[in-house]
Amino acid sequence: MAESITITDNRTGDSVEIPITDGGIESTQFRKLLPNVWFYDEALMTTAMTQSAVTFLDGDAGILRYRGYPIEQLAEQSTYLEVAYLLIHGELPTPAQYDVWNHDITYHTFIHENMRKRFLEGFHYDAHPMGMLVSAIAALSTFYGEAKEIFNDESRQKQIVRLIAKMPTLAAACHRFSVGQPFVYPDNSLSFAENFLSMMFKIAEPRYAADPRLSKALDLLFILHADHEQNCGTTAMRVIGSAHADPYSAAAGAAAALYGPRHGGANEAVIRMLNEIGSMENVPAFVDAVKSGHGRLQGFGHRVYKNYDPRARIIKKAADQVFEVTGKNPLLDIALKLEEVALSDDYFISRKLYPNVDFYSGLIYQAMGFPIEMFTVLFAIPRMSGWLAHWSELLQQDQKIARPRQLYMGADERQYVPLASRV
Ligand code: CMC
Repeated sequence: MAESITITDNRTGDSVEIPITDGGIESTQFRKLLPNVWFYDEALMTTAMTQSAVTFLDGDAGILRYRGYPIEQLAEQSTYLEVAYLLIHGELPTPAQYDVWNHDITYHTFIHENMRKRFLEGFHYDAHPMGMLVSAIAALSTFYGEAKEIFNDESRQKQIVRLIAKMPTLAAACHRFSVGQPFVYPDNSLSFAENFLSMMFKIAEPRYAADPRLSKALDLLFILHADHEQNCGTTAMRVIGSAHADPYSAAAGAAAALYGPRHGGANEAVIRMLNEIGSMENVPAFVDAVKSGHGRLQGFGHRVYKNYDPRARIIKKAADQVFEVTGKNPLLDIALKLEEVALSDDYFISRKLYPNVDFYSGLIYQAMGFPIEMFTVLFAIPRMSGWLAHWSELLQQDQKIARPRQLYMGADERQYVPLASRV
């Protein structure tokens, strides 16, 4: 075989030739040759846990495509709801399909009154909205018992629509509670992004009309965050989904992973870092501190991108358009200086550390009036469509339950000593 590897067990002399197919080697033959020898791959850095047709990512070339469509084209010409349809169904919708989809999503935006009154209002007054959101997504499963019927196509589609549609409502409800403002009901005459802005910012006006340039920018950010193949949150979704949990419980697990500052929590961390730096003059000293091991440059680096993150490039352009409406975010100059210093420094060049999607998104969110605590929530709203696309794919593939092995490094067998005899 031209495209293959050979593994030889030097203990026995047995060997096996394994073909390299689609850039991977299948593990079945490896397992047969070496029973009870495990492939040690910390953090799954060299393991493809699945085959997938959702998103293509070439980190060296800085390429990102959803279902084959370049992210740049989708960002320029599509809408978040269309992209969500594309991710879930694999194809762009026809006008008729889009009308149905748009209608269905729009008419599933309401949440059960008990969800708000009994559940969300039970949180402590200063609860972090992302913590509330993670719990709220899981709690939804208790309202939709049929969600357990994961192999019933009709039920599956219904939960997908519900989850995508209810995310902005839950997100805004968490925010309103955490700042002590009354809940705003969805307005089904508004677009997805407009409706979210209305639920976030409406005060006493009969109808909240978002600036169309801001709702468009938010929709663009939703497109850019909709999916990113096998990242930590999506892997959590797949692992939990592989146990055949209902999609609400699985999505809550994915959202919990996203909450971490190494993942979707980084956009919040970027603003805190820029505030800490305080002024452009402090940038070189801050970069020096990072290089000597004091923390990380938030919004920089990526497990897969070893080139400029294409989403960061698009967001940087969008930031200028948003700042024309809102006025410039005063932290922008510090961010630009930080990028300039880092990209000309050998520490960052040699490690291929470039700005990622989170570096500029927080600046836009902040200029639009979102509190820092909402940034990861803003990431989670559109990522729901990506999580669900992978969850559907996993079920169609009938994938086995995720159950990796370990290399046990603990104590050998030892005898129990009663408490009173221990020193
Ligand atoms: N600042 C300074 N040094 C860094 C950074 C950074 N942001 N990221 C990586 N490095 C260094 C790291 O110290 C290591 O150096 P050395 O080889 O000398 O030990 C080298 O680069 C490789 O780092 P790593 O930790 O092995 O890389 P990873 O692939 O495990 O981590 C990452 C990827 C995203 C967790 C990491 O780059 C990071 O912590 N970045 C900051 C947080 C962030 O912006 N996260 C958002 C990621 S994009 C959105 C998303 O996925 O949610």
